[in-house]
Amino acid sequence: MKKTVFLVTLIFVIGLAVYVSAQGKGSETVIFEKGRMPAVTFPHHMHQQELNNDCTACHDLFPMKDGIIKEMITQEKLKKQQVMNSKCVKCHKDRKKEGLAAGPTKCTDCHVRSK
Ligand code: HEC
Ligand code: HEC
Ligand code: HEC
Repeated sequence: MKKTVFLVTLIFVIGLAVYVSAQGKGSETVIFEKGRMPAVTFPHHMHQQELNNDCTACHDLFPMKDGIIKEMITQEKLKKQQVMNSKCVKCHKDRKKEGLAAGPTKCTDCHVRSK
């Protein structure tokens, strides 16, 4: 009986840890829906890895919450395209200048039209 309770508790605790760590990293990929420009597919986990888990590289501007960028633009806490200009494109351009591996800087390499 005691053993069963222990095992059930253990499984629950491990399950919770796995769930929390998966949640903690957020989505693998984030899609920015199409507006005037086609949608942007952002490889989130790949960036975490490339940037040695420096979450502040982006999250100093907006919290770790699904849909928060759109929400903050609506509340006028972020300007339209502020994330794009001050984070995405800025980092890619700076890194390119330094000769480091970087993501795209051309509009249509991020805003990819779906077939
Ligand atoms: C290169 C930019 C960037 C980096 C670095 C980054 N994130 Fe994110 N993160 C985003 C974007 C963009 C979103 C989506 C926000 C939205 O939906 O409006 C996001 C959303 C999230 C969310 C909310 C759930 C989701 O996926 O929508 C969590 C949790 C999260 N990030 C965790 C992290 C953690 C932990 C790190 C560091 C290990 C990290 N992020 C590093 C850009 C980044
Ligand atoms: C590195 C990737 C990247 C590049 C390069 C890029 N964008 Fe964006 N763009 C984004 C992201 C991410 C958003 C959504 C976040 C925001 O609004 O800041 C966005 C949002 C937008 C929006 C508002 C949403 C819409 O579709 O109406 C426009 C307009 C836009 N970009 C135009 C451009 C133009 C024009 C260029 C080239 C000069 C460009 N972008 C280059 C990533 C990129
Ligand atoms: C602090 C730096 C930094 C920021 C901020 C950043 N990136 Fe990147 N991005 C990188 C690096 C580094 C790579 C990987 C280059 C490589 O290894 O080929 C990359 C690669 C990419 C790629 C190419 C992925 C592939 O499969 O080749 C895309 C698309 C991209 N970034 C979009 C974005 C968008 C959208 C944002 C903003 C939400 C963003 N990035 C913010 C550094 C950054």
